[in-house]
Amino acid sequence: MRLVIISNRLPVTVVEEKGAIRFMDSVGGLSTGIRSFIASDKARAEMIQDCLWVGWPGVDLKRRNIQDITSQLKDMNCWPVFFSNRVIDKFYHGFCNRTIWPLFHYFPSLTSYNKDHWNTYIHANRVFAEEISRILMPGDLVWIHDYHLMLLPQMLRERFHDLPIGFFLHIPFPSYEVFQILPKDWQRAIVDGLLGSNLIGFHTYDYARNFLRAALRIVGAESHLGNILYKGHLVRVDVFPMGIDFDKFHSSRQNPAVQVEMEAFKAAFRDRKTVLSIDRLDYTKGIVKRLEGYEAFLKKNPSWHGRVILVLVVVPSRVRVEHYQQMKRQIDEKVGDINGKFGKVDWTPILYTYRYLPEPQLQALYNLCDTALITPLRDGMNLVAKEYIASKVDCRGVLILSEMAGASKEAVEAILINPYNIEEIADAILKALEMPEDEQIWRCRMIQSRLKRNDIFKWASSFVRSLGAAAEEGKHLE
Ligand code: G6P
Repeated sequence: MRLVIISNRLPVTVVEEKGAIRFMDSVGGLSTGIRSFIASDKARAEMIQDCLWVGWPGVDLKRRNIQDITSQLKDMNCWPVFFSNRVIDKFYHGFCNRTIWPLFHYFPSLTSYNKDHWNTYIHANRVFAEEISRILMPGDLVWIHDYHLMLLPQMLRERFHDLPIGFFLHIPFPSYEVFQILPKDWQRAIVDGLLGSNLIGFHTYDYARNFLRAALRIVGAESHLGNILYKGHLVRVDVFPMGIDFDKFHSSRQNPAVQVEMEAFKAAFRDRKTVLSIDRLDYTKGIVKRLEGYEAFLKKNPSWHGRVILVLVVVPSRVRVEHYQQMKRQIDEKVGDINGKFGKVDWTPILYTYRYLPEPQLQALYNLCDTALITPLRDGMNLVAKEYIASKVDCRGVLILSEMAGASKEAVEAILINPYNIEEIADAILKALEMPEDEQIWRCRMIQSRLKRNDIFKWASSFVRSLGAAAEEGKHLE
């Protein structure tokens, strides 16, 4: 069986440097997670012999070396779907990241409602549908990912009645009251688009429940135990909390490249306690509030001055969208402010990096840092929280996690905080830094046992298996 994975972004992004093209691993949980699964024996165990990934390579259609890029990508089992800059602007930077992303993360004030962007979203989904129709083979299983492609399941269903189509949403599905803010015809098209699937997966029960309510209110689709009969076919809605490659992170300390990085960081930290903060640059991640929380902590606890460092890593993302540019400026200012106010000749309270971190450096930080401070204002899942805990072989390390992240449902032993509450963040930092070792160990162990059981392989295998079963059951209905 061949698994056809479809996402807006391919797992590799093409970058051009000094006239030469280079392929870089794409950032984000979606691509890291699925890459691990398809490279593993677990995929084979689900009868997946072959895999093709269809998506946008991050460069525009008018490039001179398009054929070269295409053939190199095909060697990596990737099938590129190219768009012009104009389409990318309205589809990806426009409807996806100025409309769906903010609204689904509960930022209606940042949401734009542009008809032209919406029409281009429909167009881009159609381009995907046409491209996929050309490459599908009998027996293929299709797995579509994320908010960029919510119309695609129905577009494919209209062409292929019996094709098993799965859809997974990596971001929250908002409550009906928020979803309702979209124009009525967009709401209807999105719900109808998703219901073209045999299986729709979400990270948490809350998101699944929100979708079921929207489906009922908007297209009158009634559900029974998560099953919906829609336009004569069966759609199953279920919960699949995404996991990580636990063993990879748990054994990362043995990797010589990670050890080299650990030594370098140790020299820079000089026995100080470290609080780690890593995110893509995004207003949903709550980075400014987090900095305010750290500032409040320093204000209240002068005894910690000189003894703690906040290691702040921000990975550039969607830099052409203005809210992201504003966010970058706010972070720069706040970091400068805190370092200026509290820093001394021999102590900088925040070590700030604004760039992509290669995996060995990331894993070195997970291994070394005493605390991870992850405080998104809203987050579908948040895999960084899981990766940090998985890396702690001796279980010495404390996770402070926002209760607005999907991951908080599984990491209940973390210090859970309200990311809008600066005082709560400040107190949580103190609590984490002073937590007795035995308490750190039991909390971490409890979370680890869950992460180990529900890893990325289990997530992907159970989705693929449920998709096969839902498609099969659907056939018997007819
Ligand atoms: C989130 C989304 C992914 C996306 C990633 C990186 O994790 O759920 O679909 O690929 O962010 O964002 P980008 O806009 O660079 O693809």
